[in-house]
Amino acid sequence: MGINFLSFGSALPQGTVTNDDLSRMVETNDEWIYTRTGIKQRRVAVTESTVSLGTEAAKKAIEKAGIDKDEIDLVVCATITPDTNFPSTAGMVRQAIGLRDIPALDVFGTACAGFIYAVSVAQGLMATGGYKTALVIGAETLSKITDWTDRSSCILFGDGAGAAILGSGEGRGIISYHLDGINDVDGYLLCRLPSSDSPFYKGEKVDYTKMQMNGNKVFTFGITSVINGVRQMLAASGLTADDISWIVPHQANRRIIASAAHRLGIPEEKFYVNIDHVGNTSSASIPIALDEMTDKGLIKKGDKIIMVGFGGGLSAGSLLVEM
Ligand code: UT7
Repeated sequence: MGINFLSFGSALPQGTVTNDDLSRMVETNDEWIYTRTGIKQRRVAVTESTVSLGTEAAKKAIEKAGIDKDEIDLVVCATITPDTNFPSTAGMVRQAIGLRDIPALDVFGTACAGFIYAVSVAQGLMATGGYKTALVIGAETLSKITDWTDRSSCILFGDGAGAAILGSGEGRGIISYHLDGINDVDGYLLCRLPSSDSPFYKGEKVDYTKMQMNGNKVFTFGITSVINGVRQMLAASGLTADDISWIVPHQANRRIIASAAHRLGIPEEKFYVNIDHVGNTSSASIPIALDEMTDKGLIKKGDKIIMVGFGGGLSAGSLLVEM
């Protein structure tokens, strides 16, 4: 009996923005976006919030796990786009679902590696803190920090949420994970908060509070992170790529996934890709993909799956699970 994923759930907002829609807003076109990224469309919040998307994904995960919501004794949520500084997004979801008075905390700032970080935090607390059933969420409304006038970044991102129930299940469950943090001294990928408007503050003034990205640098970091993540999980477990049923990478750019697959010598078909219809949803991307895969019947009991996240921070994380 190990700590395993009992279920997944996901939620996407009502709005759909196609590449053609974007070509009417910035100088770009469907062909450029699709060939350079693999994205056809992304979903954007119209009335939804990070909490509402996280809540919907969480409710679906609870239903699919077939558990009573009162069994949940821990909530961990990864996000870089919370609706409030506090309460935590996890705490707001706890209240929206009507969970018991249980610990709820956010993993903030680890961006597209957020879901792996959140699962690792939950697993650690479950292993040492006596928690038995955890709700782990990745929820984002990236549209609110996207610069919709910057064609080099706005084409990538979308909104959404994914959730998972972690509990003790049959099989080995989570076999291994590895978290990486790299100093982003040159600011390849960041989003600043407004500077203090305190009457006492005399420091630097920050006006630009949208996401900033050096696409080429992050592209290279993404490929390296997927390669390293997969290799670390294989080395830690003594497994080979043939033992792995699926690799579920963060959906940042289809070419990052293709290049990593090629360099690892692993068929691209082993990498699950859904970026064409959801874009890059940061911490939500891996659980949304896993929920989609479950609904399509692609994940079987005993399958070994490697997940790899990477992004702002710079941060990266990988995880190996036997379902
Ligand atoms: O979750 C982690 C977060 N981010 C990522 O993982 C992003 C990783 N990086 C990427 O996905 C890619 O670097 C991008 C998709 C952002 C950019 O693709 P690229 O192949 O690296 O293009 P580039 O930045 O090297 O730009 C090539 C050309 C430039 O024109 P010139 O200088 O060659 O004339 C750009 O100005 O393409 C131009 N360009 C565009 N053209 C049409 C940049 N964005 C666009 C656009 N439409 N949207």
